[in-house]
Amino acid sequence: MSTNRKLLILAGDGIGPEVMRQVRRVVDWMGRRRGLHFDVKDGLVGGTSIEANGVPLTDATLAEAKAADAVLLGAVGGPRWDKIEFERRPEAGLLRLRKDLGLFANLRPATVLDALVDASPLKADIVRGLDIMIVRELTGGVYFGEPRGITTLDNGERQGLNTQVYTSSEIRRVARVGFELARKRNRKLCSVEKANVMESGLLWREEVTALHAAEFSDVELSHMYADNCAMQLIRNPRQFDVIVTDNLFGDMLSDEAAMLTGSLGMLPSASLGAADANGKRCALYEPVHGSAPDIAGRDIANPIASLFSFAMCLRYSFDLTAEADLIEKAVAQVLKGGLRTTDIMAPGMARCSTTVMGDSIVRALDKLHAAG
Ligand code: IPM
Ligand code: MG
Repeated sequence: MSTNRKLLILAGDGIGPEVMRQVRRVVDWMGRRRGLHFDVKDGLVGGTSIEANGVPLTDATLAEAKAADAVLLGAVGGPRWDKIEFERRPEAGLLRLRKDLGLFANLRPATVLDALVDASPLKADIVRGLDIMIVRELTGGVYFGEPRGITTLDNGERQGLNTQVYTSSEIRRVARVGFELARKRNRKLCSVEKANVMESGLLWREEVTALHAAEFSDVELSHMYADNCAMQLIRNPRQFDVIVTDNLFGDMLSDEAAMLTGSLGMLPSASLGAADANGKRCALYEPVHGSAPDIAGRDIANPIASLFSFAMCLRYSFDLTAEADLIEKAVAQVLKGGLRTTDIMAPGMARCSTTVMGDSIVRALDKLHAAG
């Protein structure tokens, strides 16, 4: 039996396949140069799965994902499938993966690399050195709440309905992830909701407060309304260390935080489940950016978010900290050298394709590895 680490790659739609091609090169590099072998399987998700199988995720692929040590996902969705009913859309494949693998904690770091400080639309003074971690609840809230649907009322009006719902255990398990991460960082956790208008937000605040008092009083806890948080992220983002929030607010605030760093093309994410009795936890790693159909197939997408996602995979699923650091260092070096994909292009820099960015990162890895 193979003892190799098992990876399932679901490249998905749009720019997914082209950025995942660069990830694959780095996965292979780990085997070649570091003796770290991965059993890699490929599968379909999203629109490409709809085309091949009629559904955005097959049961067989879901089973593969459960059996893998980690799933690496590219992106899903595109205008071609926008008119399909919700349950059959590309996005439903991703949502099913999250739900059925129990990936309740979504880690979305937003860091500003020195070389990219000018790529941010905000002033360099505001974002320099930024390093925040958003923990987004990923399997509950309005994304999955019942009842939901579009119905026609007796008076002939149509009604769209979704339900925002959280239980105390759902809140506590994700808050715990936030507190534990804060402990490894700057010991500050900001919990974000709308306790001023939503009962689910009020419960969120009460549960986080109680958990803090019971187990995490060494961490500095603050609470913030989501609208204020959106504003504070622009006004003074460095006030934050770790933010924990629900599924929908986390979706929005993480896009906003991503943009602080200059480009959605830079930001990775990890989605983690609970550890089982053997310590194994399901995990999925994906860039925060979407499928970007407007630039798909042109070899201009930024592969760095996907490469950083693989670095997170090495860190969180395989405890390979040195190798994760290596990828991050290689990227930083390449950027320092002036190479830029279109999304992070700046005056005086050299514009490059997805493939050339991948080439350069692999070369930088070679050099770092040789330097020991
Ligand atoms: C994200 C995306 C997804 C979400 C979509 C593609 C379903 O925006 O991962 O942030 O809304 O969660
Ligand atoms: Mg989103």
